[in-house]
Amino acid sequence: MDAISVIRTKRDRGELTPEQIDWVIDAYTRGEVADEQMSALAMAILLNGMNRTEIARWTAAMIASGERMNFSALSRPTTDKHSTGGVGDKITLPLAPLVAACGAAVPQLSGRGLGHTGGTLDKLESIPGWRAHITNAEMLDVLDTTGAVICAAGDGLAPADKKLYALRDVTGTVEAIPLIASSIMSKKIAEGTGALVLDVKVGSGAFMKTIEDARELASTMVALGTDSGVRTVALLTDMSTPLGLTAGNALEVRESVEVLAGGGPKDVIDLTLALAREMLDAAGLKDADPEKALADGSAMDVWRRMISAQGGDPDATLPVAREQHVVTAPSSGVLTRLDAYGVGVAAWRLGAGRARKEDPVQAGAGVELHAKPGDTVTAGQPLLTLHTDTPEKFEYALGALPDAYDIAPSGTLFTATPVVRERIA
Ligand code: URA
Repeated sequence: MDAISVIRTKRDRGELTPEQIDWVIDAYTRGEVADEQMSALAMAILLNGMNRTEIARWTAAMIASGERMNFSALSRPTTDKHSTGGVGDKITLPLAPLVAACGAAVPQLSGRGLGHTGGTLDKLESIPGWRAHITNAEMLDVLDTTGAVICAAGDGLAPADKKLYALRDVTGTVEAIPLIASSIMSKKIAEGTGALVLDVKVGSGAFMKTIEDARELASTMVALGTDSGVRTVALLTDMSTPLGLTAGNALEVRESVEVLAGGGPKDVIDLTLALAREMLDAAGLKDADPEKALADGSAMDVWRRMISAQGGDPDATLPVAREQHVVTAPSSGVLTRLDAYGVGVAAWRLGAGRARKEDPVQAGAGVELHAKPGDTVTAGQPLLTLHTDTPEKFEYALGALPDAYDIAPSGTLFTATPVVRERIA
């Protein structure tokens, strides 16, 4: 077997054999296949696709590149959620403790933000003392004692994906449905969860810009999960506008705590509850009542224990950026569009995100929204507040915003896009 013949097969629109797939993933993980060869293969896959048989084998080979976790010793059923990434997507923060408060165990291996989309670990690291990197034994202990754990995946889990994802990120090959589906599902299957709910984002702020592509990605991932014995469902959810009223690390933690305290924006509450119901259903806990667990403070209790268990202080004051800049509404009327991608890029440019994996992020940086699509606004009222420690970034961030919103004359009819657009099981 050699890398060139594997690349040629896919370049010429052929089907990769199971032997070719097993060999290329293993040889790439061991360093025998070079980065430039794997990037040529990834580009051929992006351009020519893979069928479901190839995707299933590719996923299995990535799982086999590392260890598999096992939660069978836990007394509670395990259930997890994975989002394909968006702007203001802080849902994991209230969701994991909420589902744990309803009786499930939630092993939430999370990632960092890259580009305009935020990452759960970056958000939680804005809580003083909180540690993302814990051992597998610590992870099991936090899960067992609190019911939920959010942490970084260990180096042993799907190492082929770690290497390949970093390569795709710098070679324009992230947006390939077979590669996204196998990347996400290899980690989730290796993690060993019994049930999985996929939050597949669709819209300007998501990888999938159209509902057709989101459907294709969702059904590919649901099939991979189901065929591996993981009860898997997907919700296709709107990412044309940011979720909630904040995009940025500490800003989003603050908003998540508001939700756990019984307040917070309606779209964040609605999506948190919709995903919680799906996770509990998939775990066989059909009688659980997540609405009650949010209202009676039991989800907040789990949150506090979960944060403390990883060294965080749930009562600590969250970091606030040193400088603010307010963007005002240029006219009066109805806000008909506030673009997730524009807001995400602005938050990233303010310091909330990173351009390269090794870059630091600013905990307090980001964008606060003062209106959502459908709201009536008055000329001169605050529309957005930009936060950063480095005011020289304001101009760069503002450059992402001129085309990010539309205000129509008062009385214009506005039809909101529902947060949950479709369900695929
Ligand atoms: N998230 C992942 O884990 N992998 C991808 O390829 C895209 C999003």
